[in-house]
Amino acid sequence: MGKVIGIISVKGGVGKTSCTSNIGASLAKDYNQKVLVVDANFSAPNLGLHLGVADVDKTIHEVLKGKCSILESIYEYDDQFHLIPARLNYRRRVDYKKFKSKLGRLKKKYDYILIDSSPSLNSEIKATIEASDYLLVVTSGDYPTVATTVGTVNEVVSYKKPILGLVVNKYKRKKFELSREDIEGTVGIPVISFLQENRRMGKSLAQTTPFVLLFPRARLSKQFRKLASLLIE
Ligand SMILES: Nc1ncnc2c1ncn2[C@@H]1O[C@H](COP(=O)(O)OP(=O)(O)OP(=O)(O)O)[C@@H](O)[C@H]1O
Ligand SMILES: [Mg+2]
Repeated sequence: MGKVIGIISVKGGVGKTSCTSNIGASLAKDYNQKVLVVDANFSAPNLGLHLGVADVDKTIHEVLKGKCSILESIYEYDDQFHLIPARLNYRRRVDYKKFKSKLGRLKKKYDYILIDSSPSLNSEIKATIEASDYLLVVTSGDYPTVATTVGTVNEVVSYKKPILGLVVNKYKRKKFELSREDIEGTVGIPVISFLQENRRMGKSLAQTTPFVLLFPRARLSKQFRKLASLLIE
């Protein structure tokens, strides 16, 4: 049975979608795992845009509405790396409660299912938490974001889902940033990865290709590969 890992944060823009696409691409390419990434940022989705799958008929929204099966909503980025996008600009209500059971049907088909979550502690992030076996919390290394992350972690603890750790993204390696000890002391869970800020992330977005595939030799790609390897252990 595949592992379902929810990638969450309470602040927007910290890098959940970038982590989902890059960890997913690395697990598939570097570790030969069969991977599905799913967009559960239902009201502001963009995983499909990161991976060049936009403007399609069958998405997680149609699945939750009962208009297509979850198998029909799967797109193949390549043999080992698949995705389920969400519908852009979907304004009507969707019933997130079915998300877990629909996704559960796919656990036999994949080694890893990564869920790209919505930020903020609303019903959307709850859909991700409930559907996940494990959670990965993404933050940046500045004090306001780290302080807000404490709230996410406290909320998540009540779901009794194992937290694999904190990922500190967009790390600048500057003296003014919080240290590992500061972050772990504030949030109360271990930092399992520091991912450095890299301006070429913009190019990978423009080319709809995960950074790890476009720039495999960059330090940031090594950091993503190391993070992916920690998920396999
Ligand atoms: N390590 C990095 N270095 C440089 N830019 C990055 C890095 N990680 C993410 N970004 C950029 O930051 C922006 C936000 O990233 P991303 O969309 O992954 O965040 P998010 O947490 O999914 O946002 P949202 O909450 O809106 O869904 C994007 O433009 C992305 O390219
Ligand atoms: Mg996102």
